[in-house]
Amino acid sequence: MTTRINLNGDIQQEAFISVLDHGFLFGDSVYEVISTHQGRLYFVQEHLKRLRNSARAISLEIPLADDAIIREIEKTVEAAANLESYIRIIVTRGVGEIDIDPESCTRPNVLIFVKPARLYPEENYTHGINVALVSVKRNPKESLNPGIKTGNYLNNVLAKVEARQAGAADALMLNPTGQLTECTTSNFFFVRDQRLMTPSLDCGILSGITREVVLRLARENGVLVEEGEWPPEILQDAEEAFITGTVKRVMPVTSLDSRPIGEGKPGPITKMMIRLYEDVLTSL
Ligand SMILES: Cc1ncc(COP(=O)(O)O)c(C=O)c1O
Repeated sequence: MTTRINLNGDIQQEAFISVLDHGFLFGDSVYEVISTHQGRLYFVQEHLKRLRNSARAISLEIPLADDAIIREIEKTVEAAANLESYIRIIVTRGVGEIDIDPESCTRPNVLIFVKPARLYPEENYTHGINVALVSVKRNPKESLNPGIKTGNYLNNVLAKVEARQAGAADALMLNPTGQLTECTTSNFFFVRDQRLMTPSLDCGILSGITREVVLRLARENGVLVEEGEWPPEILQDAEEAFITGTVKRVMPVTSLDSRPIGEGKPGPITKMMIRLYEDVLTSL
């Protein structure tokens, strides 16, 4: 079980980056997290597309084409030789003056970090997790748009700290107008009247790749799906809830602020989505 870091094409066990990199100084970077299933990268094209969109949104030019990035990922995954890998691709603004202006940064750094896949405890899936509705708000779309996956995650760090203090595994955030958005590193779904519901992209969330797959699978399998804008009170009548993300996949949420959601255990639609999502990964 090893870690390998590819820094601008050089693969080592450790890598060091200048303290003058604006990624370090200002969170001026973009990133993606990719996983393997049975040793194969999944949804890599989707992740690279989002990486490029994020970079474009912050006027950062990625110095490699997609096929070159994939080759570097594959070389790094091979060097790490883990059964299953967690892969983090980071493109930073690069080294420049200690000045907020990125103009002085001429060369972005491309980092590919590979380590053994992170596994969550099995009981997170069999019993579900407790999530806290926190006071920290998700960034408004008009500020640092949550649809851009940047290295500036302090908003979510604060939400996570508040959730931990409340004894919860993760935080559910509202946007500044009081609508449900997402959790710190995952999208949020709930079931009400047998309908699968999730905050729409307009609420100010990351367009999760797992979220998109789950929405497609639900529609293909006859589950009624609704994307919308809702206040948190709607969750009082929720029958089920779950979160989605590349690493967590589909993880049941069985209590909110330590109060059970529905029967307080993973419900039928959640279990169905877990199974359908796992089937997709196996078939890739
Ligand atoms: C804020 C946020 N929302 C949602 C997600 C889930 O996205 P994906 O399914 O593409 O991993 C992530 C993943 O890191 C995230 O950071």
